[in-house]
Amino acid sequence: MAGATPYYITTPIYYVNDAPHIGHAYTTIACDALARFMRLDGRRVKFLTGTDEHGQKVAKSARDAGIEPQEFCDRVSQNFRDMTKLMNISNDDFIRTTEPRHIKASQALWQELQKRGEIYLGRFAGWYSVRDEAFYEEDELTAGADGKKRAPSGAEVEWIEEENYFFRLSAWQDRLLAFYDANPDFIGPRSRRNEVVSFVKGGLRDLSLSRTSFSWGIPVPGDSKHVMYVWFDALINYITAVGYPDVESAEFSTFWPANLHMVGKDIARFHAVYWPAFLMAAGLAPPRRVFAHGWWTVEGEKMSKSLGNFIPPAKLVEEYGVDAVRYFLLRELPFGSDGDFSRHAVVSRINSDLANDLGNLAQRVLSMIAKNCAAAVPAPGALTAADEALLAAARGLLPRLRVDFAEQSFHRGLEAIWQVVSDANRYVDEQAPWALAKTDKPRMGTVLYVLAEAIRHIAILVQPVVPEAASKLLDQLAVAPDRRDFAALAGNALVAGTPLPKPQGIFPRYIVEKDGEKAGKAG
Ligand code: MSP
Repeated sequence: MAGATPYYITTPIYYVNDAPHIGHAYTTIACDALARFMRLDGRRVKFLTGTDEHGQKVAKSARDAGIEPQEFCDRVSQNFRDMTKLMNISNDDFIRTTEPRHIKASQALWQELQKRGEIYLGRFAGWYSVRDEAFYEEDELTAGADGKKRAPSGAEVEWIEEENYFFRLSAWQDRLLAFYDANPDFIGPRSRRNEVVSFVKGGLRDLSLSRTSFSWGIPVPGDSKHVMYVWFDALINYITAVGYPDVESAEFSTFWPANLHMVGKDIARFHAVYWPAFLMAAGLAPPRRVFAHGWWTVEGEKMSKSLGNFIPPAKLVEEYGVDAVRYFLLRELPFGSDGDFSRHAVVSRINSDLANDLGNLAQRVLSMIAKNCAAAVPAPGALTAADEALLAAARGLLPRLRVDFAEQSFHRGLEAIWQVVSDANRYVDEQAPWALAKTDKPRMGTVLYVLAEAIRHIAILVQPVVPEAASKLLDQLAVAPDRRDFAALAGNALVAGTPLPKPQGIFPRYIVEKDGEKAGKAG
């Protein structure tokens, strides 16, 4: 892979105050699809995820659980690691902010900013939300029915006054605006970009960068009664993982600046305002892009502890299978918009797109080949215009997907693939190879060959989203493991006479519970 263009992608690091839920799985799956896509496209990928373990919120959760914060973090962080396995996530590293490499990097960045005069000691008086781990201005707050002040997120805030170190954020307003101007693709989608730009245009206050009223954090170098503000510590994880402070290292020079920080819309400001300011202030390059996706509700309701409607990823996988969950989350919504996770919507996607459209196509074609072509790839004869049209549609997918994936437009990419699935299904009906089996065997062979070749394209291209099913499908087409990347799409067509294994269904239908019968995957 020497010489391959690097691609560094990150998920947010997840707070360990809670168990993983579908929101966390969503961000991670989206990153995984991109990481797999870029690897298949020949890029040298580094894909990072991990856990955010400091701060008041985590300290409180540990206290509530009656154990030491470190032990609490070890336990909950493991749940997130387990989630990556369960969701078939191909991350190259998993970072924890309590690791020595991260403490070293955070203290080094602090010292660099201090050396450059970007940090000063002052007194903070203002509103803080522990749930959001964020500071708020008075005019951002609303008073709830209970008289308590709340942040825009609905979280309670408390008044704090203490000695803090500050970062000179106010001095970065113009340079941030110039940076956004020069890099129109820095924030996606567009609507988020406008929000961030107008926030910065509204003026920036210096940012409190340390706390003294609790101790679960990274000690400020030279003043250990202060711990670093948890967001400062958290954002640094992205450079820790590429070897900061060793900026001369091969890892750092290969992968920094990151190509993409994927985040939810609630944390866009931290990534698109504070983070590039910290980096520029330390003389480092800001990331190339931050994409803020939308939020899921569940059966029309906001996910919340009090409603008890958090869906653990393990439950989804058990019920629907990992590929179906991955497909649903990336196909159902335009990436960037909010949406609703409902059982009905999942089942209908599984049954129509996966089982009916792609599953049936593969099953029909492979079983006709098994039955009529001595279980080997048939030999194609001269191609008709209809054959050429289907093959051209399949071959046209990769350039289209490159554009969609570069814009994090997963739903559009999947729509394009399923357009070819539907072309292929129409072609089967029109060409009726079952009838040709009786009247014109050579033509039947050509039709089945064209279909198998279209399915090979589809199977290679759906690997980033449904890796398990795609690999089963490629096994059934006897495509060698080293012929499954995007470079193999051009040339490397199926070879007539290659023996094929016995066909098996790849996407079972989901049977919905009726009259007390049990729901579940069929077959
Ligand atoms: N620890 C910070 C991130 C630090 S990154 C340097 C944090 N953690 S979090 O665990 O609270 O949230 C992580 C991600 O989950 C966020 O991107 C958030 O948007 C996402 N989601 C949380 N609930 C969600 C939904 N209901 N739907 C979609 N994504 C959601 O913030």
